[in-house]
Amino acid sequence: MANDKIDQLRKLKEKAKLGGGEKRIQAQHEKGKLSARERLDILLDEGSFEEIDMLVRHRSHDFGLEKQRYLGDGVVTGHGTIEGRKVFVYSQDFTVFGGSLSEAHAEKICKIMDMAMKVGAPVIGLNDSGGARIQEGVVSLGGYADIFLKNTLASGVIPQISAVMGPCAGGAVYSPAITDFILMVKNSSHMFVTGPNVVKTVTHENVSFEDLGGALTHATKSGVAHFACENEIECLQNIRKLISYIPSNNLDDPPFIETDDDPNRMEQNLQSIIPDNPNKPYDIKDIITAILDNKEFFEVHELYAPNIVVGFGRLGGRPAGIVANQPAVLAGVLDIDSSIKGARFVRFCDAFNIPLVVFEDVPGFLPGTDQEWRGIIKHGAKLLYAFCEATVPKITVITRKAYGGAYDVMNSKHIRGDINYAWPSAEIAVMGPKGAVEVIFRKQIEQAEDKEKALEQKVSEFRQKFANPYIAAERGYVDDVIEPVETRPRLIRALNMLDTKVDRNPKKKHGNIPL
Ligand code: HXC
Repeated sequence: MANDKIDQLRKLKEKAKLGGGEKRIQAQHEKGKLSARERLDILLDEGSFEEIDMLVRHRSHDFGLEKQRYLGDGVVTGHGTIEGRKVFVYSQDFTVFGGSLSEAHAEKICKIMDMAMKVGAPVIGLNDSGGARIQEGVVSLGGYADIFLKNTLASGVIPQISAVMGPCAGGAVYSPAITDFILMVKNSSHMFVTGPNVVKTVTHENVSFEDLGGALTHATKSGVAHFACENEIECLQNIRKLISYIPSNNLDDPPFIETDDDPNRMEQNLQSIIPDNPNKPYDIKDIITAILDNKEFFEVHELYAPNIVVGFGRLGGRPAGIVANQPAVLAGVLDIDSSIKGARFVRFCDAFNIPLVVFEDVPGFLPGTDQEWRGIIKHGAKLLYAFCEATVPKITVITRKAYGGAYDVMNSKHIRGDINYAWPSAEIAVMGPKGAVEVIFRKQIEQAEDKEKALEQKVSEFRQKFANPYIAAERGYVDDVIEPVETRPRLIRALNMLDTKVDRNPKKKHGNIPL
């Protein structure tokens, strides 16, 4: 072949790699942002990226676009590996028309999503875009809709992860929103349906980009983002970490990693971790980390609804999805936000064959008009529904309170918990001793000479009779009462036993989870 043909190809590819040109790449760097390709270099194993559609250009002839036909059209797509495992990626290139989405740009994303579905591998999207390519009008909107549909059809089949690393506005937010996890970068990424200017016109509110739709806003207030990262590198490393816990598709097992951490390790500290006073808080994360392999817990949604804790860890090498009430925040009560957070995580784990390990210390659902009027009934039902429908191995450890409806909800035996343990400190009852006594002994207490003493006595009687795990154990509602110190070995043995578990729900088009 003539050398000039090879030269032509090389030149084209060199040009494609520059996207919108060196100046714009420099402008990107000046904003503290990496280029689309630099991000992929950090995300993927070195040298593993195989690019697809590098030479694609848009086909638009309006508004002078025919003179600006950048190779790649504002998105770098392809596949590579993370710790040797195949992933598909798209990385929007802000240097080309602000990373805006054209027909061709959308087609590139759709192409790799289709391939990912065929071969059963996760899709990771790095979003940095001014939204619909304005010059292409409705064709661009169509491109978004094509992606939304593919996101939806891929949901529960292959994991989908979205990093928002720049602007993501208008309808464009709905692709990340449908995916399984959203990571944002503090101070440089924004997600909103309408930006601060429109907000000012419509609601007369003055709000900054960061306050309206920055990483912290979405990680704390709205719950839209699962991770608020300090910088782009942390964001990309978090994606690698996330991938390490999850399988490539819904037919695969999650990745087992051999561990040096002794499966029979007894953690002595756990014996005394529950305070004597049942109203005193403790940090459930101390228990979670003590038990997991190498004491490593990868928390998801850390800043949102911290009265429930969710995240990944390993037990004897096997990944597990941890769901835990957090007595250190609002006494671990279940409210609207924590129910939604928990439910979404449970459903992710169930969709992707990740066993669930639940730590329970819950005084019930949060009372009050605010919660009732905003629908704690339907939102709490989400968590209940999610645990009920989950067919993955499900294990519960009741560390202290398991009161009322929350006892049922938190993966009780009755809703197909496979192995349910309680610590001797467990209190399994319809409600806390004081509340219970005030209902059932109201008259006696009112008639007593010393009301306070009578109340105290009844509370103590009730506590002795009901605030323990033994009535539940008598009925087999818990499979065993275990010493805290033996929790890690018992959990690992339970997970090993459940490794071959098969359970199915009735055949249906889909259930109707209370949304
Ligand atoms: C075409 C766009 C573009 C867009 C940016 N550019 N957004 N080109 N379509 N949507 C181009 C700019 O013309 C500019 O080109 C380059 O990208 C960089 O943009 P700047 O404005 O210079 O950058 P910056 O100051 O950082 O501002 C970034 C921005 C702003 C906040 C994203 O560009 C912006 O507001 N863009 C419009 C956003 C928008 O309204 N999009 C439509 C939303 S509706 P040059 O050649 O000068 O480098 C939507 C609907 C989706 O997306 C619906 C799905 C159902």
